[in-house]
Amino acid sequence: MIIDNMSPVRSAPSRYDPLGTPGEVPCESPSDQDHDKVIEATHVSKWYGSFRALTDINLTVRKGERIVICGPSGSGKSTLIRCFNRLEAHQEGEITVNGIRLHSKMRNVAEVRKNVGMVFQHFNLFPHMTVLMNCMAAPMWIKGMPKAQAGKVALKFLERVRIPEQANKFPGQLSGGQQQRVAIARSLCMEPAVMLFDEPTSSLDPEMVAEVLETMTSLARDGMTMVCVTHEMGFARAVADRVIFMDAGQIVEQGKPHHFFTKPQHERTKLFLSQILKH
Ligand SMILES: Nc1ncnc2c1ncn2[C@@H]1O[C@H](COP(=O)(O)OP(=O)(O)OP(=O)(O)O)[C@@H](O)[C@H]1O
Ligand SMILES: [Mg+2]
Repeated sequence: MIIDNMSPVRSAPSRYDPLGTPGEVPCESPSDQDHDKVIEATHVSKWYGSFRALTDINLTVRKGERIVICGPSGSGKSTLIRCFNRLEAHQEGEITVNGIRLHSKMRNVAEVRKNVGMVFQHFNLFPHMTVLMNCMAAPMWIKGMPKAQAGKVALKFLERVRIPEQANKFPGQLSGGQQQRVAIARSLCMEPAVMLFDEPTSSLDPEMVAEVLETMTSLARDGMTMVCVTHEMGFARAVADRVIFMDAGQIVEQGKPHHFFTKPQHERTKLFLSQILKH
């Protein structure tokens, strides 16, 4: 389902052109630019065995940016964002996340994941734990937060996604939309520098898609840095600073939403948009 009527999010005036290469950023010292970068991928390639899933990906995500990634099935969208929190390893190029370079010998993967929240298509909540415990677990286990404090943090973010009343239920007692909002709250409890979303609405019944998109829109409005793999083009239009189109493991085209949707440059992008927007 495509929601195409969401109200636009007013963004702070951008100090840079999101389409520009670092060399094109005006009037900023290199240290300012580096400070702003939450994710930087340069010349990244990844193979699954002999199959090349990503080819020469270059992407910088700056603080407060909202990026939507779209593209056909199998184009490498999930693989790319999974590389950003080291759920997948890349073999060529460099990825730096919140100042930490990801590489094969790294010992501090947990440190990276503290900074990167991830929301999956299938919620991935712990079914045997209450909603509250699902949200308390990572702050307690990974950050060593005392239980009472973790409870307060969990409740704060359940309120943020507007389901504090579900705190003592188990995930199986919630609707899909509510479970996904819990998954978002659970990630927020770690106060990450960036949130990654991998098709967070695609397994939901149509009537539940809007509540999850509203939650994501509200996070965007608060300035959260977000990279969202989604085919919700209404969300992309309303919220994204930049839309990226991937095909066959490559970034084919990227642009500001208005430009991307009205003047796609590549035939593959045009074909994809014509297919997805007619539904
Ligand atoms: N663990 C894996 N082992 C081998 N090949 C994989 C693995 N995961 C993904 N691939 C392959 O890598 C390519 C990219 O997959 P990926 O899941 O990143 O695509 P996607 O763009 O997210 O697709 P979808 O829209 O269907 O989610 C596909 O050809 C897929 O079959
Ligand atoms: Mg995917």
